[in-house]
Amino acid sequence: MIGDSTEAKECRLKDPMDLFRSGQVVKICAPMVRYSKLAFRTLVRKYSCDLCYTPMIVAADFVRSAKARDSEFTTNKAGDHPLIVQFAAKEAQVLCDAARIICPFADGIDLNCGCPQRWAMAEGYGACLINKPELVKDMVRHVRNQIDNPKFSVSIKIRIHEDLKRTVDLCQKAEAAGVSWITVHGRSTEERHQPVHYDAIKTIKQGMSIPVVANGDVKTLKDAENVHHLTEADGIMVARGLLANPAMFAGYEETPFKCIQDWVDIALEHGTPFTCFHHHLMYMMERITSKQEKKVFNVLSSTSAVLDYLNDHYGV
Ligand SMILES: Cc1cc2nc3c(=O)[nH]c(=O)nc-3n(C[C@H](O)[C@H](O)[C@H](O)COP(=O)(O)O)c2cc1C
Repeated sequence: MIGDSTEAKECRLKDPMDLFRSGQVVKICAPMVRYSKLAFRTLVRKYSCDLCYTPMIVAADFVRSAKARDSEFTTNKAGDHPLIVQFAAKEAQVLCDAARIICPFADGIDLNCGCPQRWAMAEGYGACLINKPELVKDMVRHVRNQIDNPKFSVSIKIRIHEDLKRTVDLCQKAEAAGVSWITVHGRSTEERHQPVHYDAIKTIKQGMSIPVVANGDVKTLKDAENVHHLTEADGIMVARGLLANPAMFAGYEETPFKCIQDWVDIALEHGTPFTCFHHHLMYMMERITSKQEKKVFNVLSSTSAVLDYLNDHYGV
């Protein structure tokens, strides 16, 4: 999972809430299964990202199996913080156990209440939790009470209801239970590509005293500023926009070559598996390569072939 826990503890003194207290809009890399791993987090942090989430990890597997812990979670002692570990959970004690294991290595946990995938909903994870406010409250309260470190954050990430009053009620219950902040992906569980309901995020924000983070369809720093104005949210979380351009929080409109070079260096240094290494490059180069270039690049099948291609075409 990681190296020595004492050393790790020493560098985990940063309180993620300080970011929100700074008064600046907090720039956040979203949890992304397969993608928001250590190497990618290292890259986006280099380009002005303030706070990173791990991909969602099923808490029950994490608690049960050392193998799951090793394969699902990697961090390092130096730069990978503030770091929020996102869990899928449906039982308070299981979430507490997962939080206790992760506590020395992270700055907080997040409960996934937004995943709309069929398997997650069928298991009682993800977005079905927005319809179980008492359970969410119970899970938040248990973690808050059982983790000694008051700086360790406990957040939730939700989608909205058709009836927004239910979302406000859920958020207020979570706030009363001691949740640190709430991230709102401004779509309902059924919505996929429909426009994000930024007005709903604003309504939620107005009903809360804790920080609210807005999420959905932010692709550039300008979008982030607009969404901040529309929602009054304290932070902006980005997923696909960062996959396409990991330097977007630093103000780049499209992925700069330097960022591609950085990804190659960081990924190789971290021993990133080829598929992950290549997928990230495909995302990053999507907007800056022609159809013809993609046809060649996207079917490359080894790290050396990718490195040769980048060297030949971009001098990277
Ligand atoms: C590849 C991918 C993986 C994702 N994995 C997760 C996840 O593990 N946990 C989660 O809460 N949301 C996950 N999401 C949803 C995003 O965090 C985010 O809420 C959604 O994509 C909307 O933000 P965006 O418009 O910036 O992409 C994922 C999204 C993508 C594209």
